[in-house]
Amino acid sequence: MSPNSSLNDALWIRQKAVEHTELFRDSIPLIASENLMSPLTKEMVISDFNNRYAEGLPGHRYYQGNKIVDEMETRVEELVKTLFRAKQADVRPISGTNANQALVFAFLQPGETILTPSLDSGAHISSAQFGAVGMRGCSIKNMAFNTDLMKVDVDGTRKAILAEKPKVVLFGFSVFLFPAPIKELKETIDEVGATVWYDGAHVLGLIAGRRFQDPLREGADVISGSTHKTFPGPQHGVIVGNTDEEKWKKVRRGVFPGVISNHHIGAMAGLGVTAAEMIEFGESYASAIIQNAKTLGGELHSRGFKVLAEKSGFTESHTLLIDVKKEGGGRQVAEVLERNNIILNKNMIPGDDNTKAQNPSGIRIGTQEATRIGMGRSEMSHIADLIQRAVKGANVKDEVLELKRQFQEVKYCYGKERGYDFIELYR
Ligand SMILES: Cc1ncc(COP(=O)(O)O)c(C=O)c1O
Repeated sequence: MSPNSSLNDALWIRQKAVEHTELFRDSIPLIASENLMSPLTKEMVISDFNNRYAEGLPGHRYYQGNKIVDEMETRVEELVKTLFRAKQADVRPISGTNANQALVFAFLQPGETILTPSLDSGAHISSAQFGAVGMRGCSIKNMAFNTDLMKVDVDGTRKAILAEKPKVVLFGFSVFLFPAPIKELKETIDEVGATVWYDGAHVLGLIAGRRFQDPLREGADVISGSTHKTFPGPQHGVIVGNTDEEKWKKVRRGVFPGVISNHHIGAMAGLGVTAAEMIEFGESYASAIIQNAKTLGGELHSRGFKVLAEKSGFTESHTLLIDVKKEGGGRQVAEVLERNNIILNKNMIPGDDNTKAQNPSGIRIGTQEATRIGMGRSEMSHIADLIQRAVKGANVKDEVLELKRQFQEVKYCYGKERGYDFIELYR
């Protein structure tokens, strides 16, 4: 292969990054698991931190050159502990799934039982038979779930805890519409001596903003999370805890050497910057996200969409789940909207089985990214109108472009108005 041909390959890939950036510049972003980093966070991700290794913990490394990384990592841990009012924090997992793997290693031996929500009630694959928990050889039992209310069924789950005596009770959802009943179940969980693990991948930013629920105060031992969904940081993971020293040691070992070697230090610095920004802006950001989700749910419902959990007010988080069987199914609706530059995903709803994964009955919507760029109630109503008309066959792409043109700046973070102007450290 000639040198010119590989240069062309490199430039072709770069061109794809340009086109991709333009696609999202021109689209309404409604994927519930994505977000935009702040300028200062972005700078951390491309800094020299990103080129380095720092295995282990501050003060106990295996490489030289980590003096400044040690100072930074210690500060990031402190910020995360402050933000979540946690006794412990581990800022090394490189994604939500990776944080979950570490906790599976820490708390579960092959053959032991874990109680989790089922996949069709919104659980994540990492707690499924074919995900991290199943691959550890654990026995998976499911919580009772009320599909009408889209909430964990407390009485049914209490019975399941007493019958199964699980080692771990895991509260975690990829469709996390309502707070989990930790408080209500804590006494029963304590009776069987189980560890309470809260997978807050989706709702971490809402918890940081003191909305939704406060798992550590309600009885969770640990929270795992992604730092790039409602928590608007770099693609990374985190674990926070209020456990005894013995348990926390197991978590530390689960992370390293359990599931990571190097922990993506640029992203970890970005997590610290985002944590600092969330200490200042988190409450107003989380409130706006939830208000937008409720508004969008109501607006879609009033236009005839079957938004689930109507009896519970559709949502208390950033997420909405909509049954679109009568509109042609999840895949068709998501594809029609994509052609109009409205980006969301098809999703299973209660009652769908695994064979429906590629063509499920629902769509999932998240409002965290649209909120991050400053959209509010009137834009939610406008978006509901655009969705309705697109699903009925209208071409609304030009209207989407016109709307999106007005929302191009990341909010709820440090920027020019606070004396921080994005300086590209490394051109
Ligand atoms: C509940 C839950 N846990 C874990 C994850 C995995 O997070 P990540 O994509 O950061 O690996 C997700 C991802 O969407 C999730 O919904």
